[in-house]
Amino acid sequence: MKHQFTDIESLLDEKMEGKTVKIRGWVYRKRTAGGMNFLIVRDATDVIQVAVKKDKVAEKDFASADKALIESAVEVEGIVKKDARAINGFEMQAVSFHVIHSANAFPVAKDNSPEFLLDIRHLWVRSREISAIMKVKSTMLEAVREHFKQEGYFETTPPIIVSGAVEGGSTLFEMNYFGKKAYLSQSAQLYLEALIFSLEKVYSITPSFRAEKSRTLRHLAEYWHVEAEAAYAELEDMLILEEGLISNMCQKAATDRAKELKFLGRDPAEMKKIEPPFDRIKYDEAVELVQVKNPAFKWGDDLGTEDERILTQERTLPVFVTHYPKHIKAFYMKEDPKNPKLVRCNDCLAPEGYGEIVGGSQREENVDKLIDRLKEEGADVAAYEWYLDLRRYGSVPHSGFGLGLERIVRWVCKLEHIRDTIPFPRVMNRSYP
Ligand code: 4AD
Ligand code: MG
Repeated sequence: MKHQFTDIESLLDEKMEGKTVKIRGWVYRKRTAGGMNFLIVRDATDVIQVAVKKDKVAEKDFASADKALIESAVEVEGIVKKDARAINGFEMQAVSFHVIHSANAFPVAKDNSPEFLLDIRHLWVRSREISAIMKVKSTMLEAVREHFKQEGYFETTPPIIVSGAVEGGSTLFEMNYFGKKAYLSQSAQLYLEALIFSLEKVYSITPSFRAEKSRTLRHLAEYWHVEAEAAYAELEDMLILEEGLISNMCQKAATDRAKELKFLGRDPAEMKKIEPPFDRIKYDEAVELVQVKNPAFKWGDDLGTEDERILTQERTLPVFVTHYPKHIKAFYMKEDPKNPKLVRCNDCLAPEGYGEIVGGSQREENVDKLIDRLKEEGADVAAYEWYLDLRRYGSVPHSGFGLGLERIVRWVCKLEHIRDTIPFPRVMNRSYP
C-alpha cells in the first residue's frame, strides 16, 4: 500500500491529540452548518466525526465534502482534536478531503421496516449493529478453534451433500444429485463418528440445513454448526467439554469484544461470569420445574421454546438437561442402561430465557438396537448401511454434540431475533439477497 492510513479506533485516544493523520472509510452520517460539513466517517474499526471547514481545505475538497452523500468512500487527512460534543469524544479537522467513490442516494433511512432492511441486506450489513455482531461472531469462532486445539481435537471437513437424515426426515432439504435424490446435511455427526476410528477426537465447523417450516426467533434454514465427536467419551465427558467450550467462547468475547458487546447492550461482565460448572438437571426434574408455570406439560412431551424459557429465565449460567425420553430423541442416542425409556443425552440451555444452544449424546453402539430404532422412525435402513458398519468393525463407546453458532451468538449479543447473527439469513420466505 502506498499511503499510511490510521485505523479510526486508534485515533480515539488522548495521545493522538494534535496529530495529523490520514484515514479512509465511508460516510456514515452527515450534517451541514454555517460553512462547515460535519461527516461521521466509519472504517472497519470505529467511527469519528470529520469537520470540513471552508477556510481549512482547498476549494475543490470543500466542494467534494459538500456533495458527498452517505456511503461515499472517502480519504481524509486531518488533525485529531478532543471534542466532548462529537460521537466517541474526538473530531478530525480536515486539511484535505478526497472522494474515492461518490455514492448514489443510500436507501437506508431511519425507521425502515425489518422486511425492507432484509431486502437490502447487502447494504444493511454495513450497519454498526451487524458489524458489531459479526466481529463478536468472528472472535467466538477463534475461541472454538483455540479450545479444540487445546483439547487435542483434529478439525475435519465432512460432506454437505449427504444420502440420509440425521435429525429426522421432516426438515431435510432434498436436491437432485445427477438424477438421484440427495440432501443438504442437517448435521455432520454420522461422518464425524466415522472419523473417530482413526483420529479419535474430531470436530468440524460446517453449515447445516433445516427445512424449518415455521417462522420463529431461533430457527434458520441454514446455520453454522460446531460439532465434536470423541472415541471412548461418555456422556459426562461431553458435558465437561461443552461447558469448557461455551465458557471460553464467552470469555473471549467479553475480553476481545467488550466494546462491541456494550454497543449491543450486553454487559461484558455478565459473559466473564460464564464459567464451569453449569447445573445439570435430569429431564424428570425439568418436567416438575416446567409444570409449576405450565401445568399442561406432561412427562414425555418435548421441551418447547416456552418450556425452555421457564427453565432458564431466572438463570445467569447455562444449564444441562440430560436423560430425555427415548421416543422424543434421535435414533442414534444410547439407551440408558438403568432405564430403557431414557437416553444418555444432553441439551445445553442458555440462560435469560434463550434456551437450547447444544444438543448431544452418547451414541448407541448396538447395531441391532440401531436398526430397530431406524425402522421405528420409518427410515430407509439401506441408506444407513455404511453407518451401521461403524458398529461392526472395532466399535467403541463414544459421544458427541452439536453447538448452534448463531444460537450462542444470539444469547451473547443479547439479540431478540436469530437472523441478525448471520449476515445473509436464510429463512422460509427468503433466499435473496
Ligand atoms: O439438537 P440438534 O438437532 O442436534 C444435532 O444435529 C446432533 N446431530 C448434533 C451432534 O450431536 N453432533 O442440533 C444441534 C444444535 C442445536 O442445539 C441448536 O443450537 C442448533 O444446532 N440448531 C439450529 N440453529 C439454528 N437454526 C436451526 N434451525 C437449528 N436447528 C438446530
Ligand atoms: Mg436439539
